[in-house]
Parts: sequence; structure tokens; C-alpha cells
Amino acid sequence: MSARETILAALEETRSRTLWLFDRVPDEFLRRRVHSFYSPIGWHFGHIGRTEEFWAACKAAGREPNDEALSFIFADLPENPKDNRVNIPPREGIRAYLEATREASVKALEASDLTGDSPLQRDGYAWHFAIQHECQHQETIAEMLQLIQKQLPQPPVECGDWRPTPTARMIELPGGRVIQGSDDPTGYDNEKAAHEVEVGAFRLAERPVSSYEWTEFMRDGGYMRPELWSPGGWRWAEQECIRAPEYWKEQPSGWAYFGPNGLRAISAAEPVSSISHFEAEAFARWAGKRLPTESEWEMAASIRPSDRRKSRYPWGDELPDRARACYGLTDWAPADCMTHPSGAAESGLQDLAGSVWEWTSSAFLPYPRFEAYPYDGYSKDHMRGEHRVCRGGSWATNERILRSTFRNWYVPTYRQGFLGMRLAESI
Ligand code: AVJ
Ligand code: FE
Repeated sequence: MSARETILAALEETRSRTLWLFDRVPDEFLRRRVHSFYSPIGWHFGHIGRTEEFWAACKAAGREPNDEALSFIFADLPENPKDNRVNIPPREGIRAYLEATREASVKALEASDLTGDSPLQRDGYAWHFAIQHECQHQETIAEMLQLIQKQLPQPPVECGDWRPTPTARMIELPGGRVIQGSDDPTGYDNEKAAHEVEVGAFRLAERPVSSYEWTEFMRDGGYMRPELWSPGGWRWAEQECIRAPEYWKEQPSGWAYFGPNGLRAISAAEPVSSISHFEAEAFARWAGKRLPTESEWEMAASIRPSDRRKSRYPWGDELPDRARACYGLTDWAPADCMTHPSGAAESGLQDLAGSVWEWTSSAFLPYPRFEAYPYDGYSKDHMRGEHRVCRGGSWATNERILRSTFRNWYVPTYRQGFLGMRLAESI
């Protein structure tokens, strides 16, 4: 396949998953805001089309937008606040807009020189950007389907056994000078440039923290003991009366979870999900351990100890498959920990890719030689130190952005995502 054909196939494949999600959104929620943090769910679909047209057709190829008014309302700009974003067209209008903007981007692709000097055309950058951006919004849409379920009446659920999960082994990783980040021309600005970092030897848990372990933390008064929390974390938890992960709901027979398909029983062995960075820190202190730094996490997920080679995924460079990881919206829940051993890293670490994002202790900051591209609002504007980095992707993350160098970031109070944690300790 030529580079252009590869891009066309990726555009189509990504879009089919977006449209599949579109069909799952109830009409009555399409143009309503369900949470102060989010735009209406229907806006995200139009925004996918707007972003693609803006970068791939307008900026890369000099075309005019199909529809100025829609291009404005679907833009993520301060002049278009979230409350204004309810004024979007109904379902058919959003779908037609997605088609029109796609047509413009494909025409622009056909007219572009992917080997020339234009930075947006070169290597198909603008289209790769649009595809990855669409993938990220697919996950946000899945988060919003979960939010909707929390607001709908749910029948009670019967919870099953609650057996302790076997203690996670702490796996020792050698330190050293390793490469962090990537120079992949189609990657995001925040992953660049690849640079050397010094990481000390440390230990990392073989799997994420399980839901069973989270109930042990709760039983031991984890949410009531200020000494386990950072001052800011404690203030937040008190103010918001935080007592359990965001989507957990207690039933007479145990704990249940508001998933995108409704309330379901939690499995003791599934990774804890929908915790904030503040909660992750408190759990780590309770366990006598800490969160890994971003450099430690990336090293563990991408550098093979035996030959120090850097690979794209924990298991190597082969593309993700369902035996190796839980990703891409197929299961609608994280997999039980340690159920994808063929996706383990050489070190024995499991579940690094997919299932739940893992909070790190690191602030989202630029790497050396970082250059904001294609615009400051994508990464740079969020690099003021208040966001924390999470890594690894979740059961909702599209395989196109599951690579080990991919950086995600949220404020430390954010707990609406598919967010979990893994313990680390210094040696
Ligand atoms: C990195 C997930 C926080 O959703 O705001 C989407 C990704 N940036 N469109 C977000 C993003 C622009 C971003 N997060
Ligand atoms: Fe966006």
C-alpha cells in the first residue's frame, strides 16, 4: 500500500468505530451537557469532523471550510464556551457534517505531496493528527456514556465472590540511561524529542492495583486518614466527600460499577478504575509504596532489559492484538489483571498496555527540544505543571494510540476517566 492508501484505510477504519459509537448515544443526550467538565456528547462528534477539516483540508491544503458556522460551533475555542455548544444540529446534521468534512480531507489528501516540504502534508502529518485526535475523542465519548448511566435509574445488581487477589510481585528493573520519548514524525508534539534520561534501579508491581485491594484500603479507613493524603488531596476529598471511586456504587451484596452499559458487578481481580491522582497517591502511601515517575513507567513499558532495545509496545513492535491486551472498546470494562500474559514485557510486567490508564507521579511538562505543533492548545497550554501524566491506555483506548510513548494528562482531581494505578518502590 502507498502512504496515501494507508492513511485512507486508517481514516475509514477509525471513522467506522466513531459511527458505531454515535449509534449508541441516546437522542435525548446528544445535545445536552451531562457534566460541568464536558461539552454535550453530540458536540464531540462534530468536533472530530471540524478538527479533521481544519487541519487536513484548510491548514494543510488551503481549502475553505464547508460551513463556517458549524466550523465555529464545533471548535474548542474560548470564544465558543461549552454552554454555547448545545446549539448544534440534530443527529442527521452532525452525521452530514462528518461526511462533508471527511470528503474535504480526502480531496486534500489526494492533492497533497506527502514527501515535499509542507510540514502539515509531509508524511501525512495532518491526517495522522486527525486520526489520533478522533481516537482520543472516542475514549472521551465512552467516558460520557458512563456519565449518562450514572444519571439514569439502575436496577440493583447481584455481586459475586470477593476473593483476595494474590499479592502482586514487585519486579526489579535495572536503572541506567535510557531513551524517553519518540521522534516518530507522525507522533504528537508532546512525545518529542527522544532524549536520554537517567533512571535509578527501582521495583514496579507486576500488575495494576486490583479492586479487591482498593476495598482493603477503604476498610482500613483510607478515605478518613489525612496522614495518607497530600494537603491538597485531603482538602479536595473532604470538600467533595470522596468515599469510593467515582463510578463505584455499594450494593447489599458488594460493589458495583456504573459502566457505559449500565450498573454491573465489579470483579475483585479487575483493576481499580475511576480514581483521581489524589486517591492514587493516598493508596500508595497506605501501601508503603509510591507511584512510578513517567520516566520509570516508560522505561518499564518500552525498554527490554536484556538488550536495552526500545520497542513500541511492552511485548515488542508487533501491533496490538486481543490476546496481548484489553483495548479498543471491545469489552466495555477493564479485563481482570494478569489475564493477558502474552502481552507481558520481558521483565514479567503485565497489563501495561490497555485495561486502565495508570497515574504517574510526574507533572505534564515539555521534554527537552519540545516544539508546540500544530498549535499551542494541543499540548503546550496544558504544560503549566498542574496536570499529572497517565500512561498505558485503557480498555477504551484505540489501538492507534496505544503506544508506550503516548502521554495522557489530567488535573489531579479528575476521576471520570478509565484511570487506575500501579505501585512502585525505590531500591
Ligand atoms: C489529553 C485527553 C486531556 O480530551 O482534552 C482532545 C485530548 N486534545 N482534543 C482532551 C484532546 C484536543 C485531551 N486529553
Ligand atoms: Fe479535541
